[in-house]
Amino acid sequence: MEGGGAAFAHRSTGIPPMTDEECRLFSGFVRDRFGLDVFEAQRDRVRFRLKERLEARAMTSFLEYYRFLVLSPRAGEELPYLVEALTNNETYFFRERYQLDWYFAEVMPRQVRSRPTGEPVRVLSAGCSSGEEAYTLAIVQHENQFRCLGRPVEIHAIDLNPSRIRQAEQAEYEGHSFRATSAEAKERYFGGTATDGRLRVKAWLRTPVRFRVLNLMELPDAFPDGHFDAVFCRNVLIYFNEATMQRACSLFHRSLGQGAPLFLGHSESLLGRTRLFRPERATDFIFYVKESA
Ligand SMILES: C[S@@+](CC[C@H](N)C(=O)[O-])C[C@H]1O[C@@H](n2cnc3c(N)ncnc32)[C@H](O)[C@@H]1O
Repeated sequence: MEGGGAAFAHRSTGIPPMTDEECRLFSGFVRDRFGLDVFEAQRDRVRFRLKERLEARAMTSFLEYYRFLVLSPRAGEELPYLVEALTNNETYFFRERYQLDWYFAEVMPRQVRSRPTGEPVRVLSAGCSSGEEAYTLAIVQHENQFRCLGRPVEIHAIDLNPSRIRQAEQAEYEGHSFRATSAEAKERYFGGTATDGRLRVKAWLRTPVRFRVLNLMELPDAFPDGHFDAVFCRNVLIYFNEATMQRACSLFHRSLGQGAPLFLGHSESLLGRTRLFRPERATDFIFYVKESA
């Protein structure tokens, strides 16, 4: 019965069925490579999104595609497309900005008071997608500049999807990205309407932001331990299973300085799941503070 249903699905939608075995193979592959855990719960969505990759490679089954990823010397070319198909890149400017306000108004001033002049404050946007979160960090930091006591601020932003990082570096945006942006903020921080109606982040806001294609599972290879004063990793951990989430926590713990905060998306929580961070209450949300080792 089941097989007949799957075959029917193939004929009517053009998407080949994905067997339990194929699902298991893909799950292991993308979990090991990227820390993503999207197959078991979302097999249908994933099947649908991978269909285009099979078509692009003129393949007729997921097993054939899997073998290509594992065995072909040209598999590296395919990985960015695979990542694109598997991840949700939804983001926009000023998303949950209350967390950024809290950091720059309440936490950062305490951090800068206890550090030598000239030493920068370093903030990480992990899973930055097309860059809206990183530029919002630059905007909110600018609005709180008087609290920085003259310390320079660096905003580092990473994502494992190369096409999103390319977009982020271009810094040109349209409609959807601005759905939480006031007319005043648009006027102040974005300029030069391009011919296609897109707006570009102003140059002085782009200066403190550095983008990089990086899997957050490789953070310690890219940055020294204790490098960051704050990590914003919002709406990313939802794709991870418990084991991968624990691994991400220990990498953030390693990358943050003493007592530095970690901010997650509003639907993500570490409560009762780790001893590496303790929850702290802000006005009406929880953030996490690095515990001493
Ligand atoms: C839904 S977007 C969130 C964007 C932004 N943080 C926000 O809250 O608006 C999730 C992003 O996380 C990225 N991502 C997922 N797993 C990742 C990993 N292991 N390393 C780096 N980026 C990852 C995806 O490519 C995607 O761009």
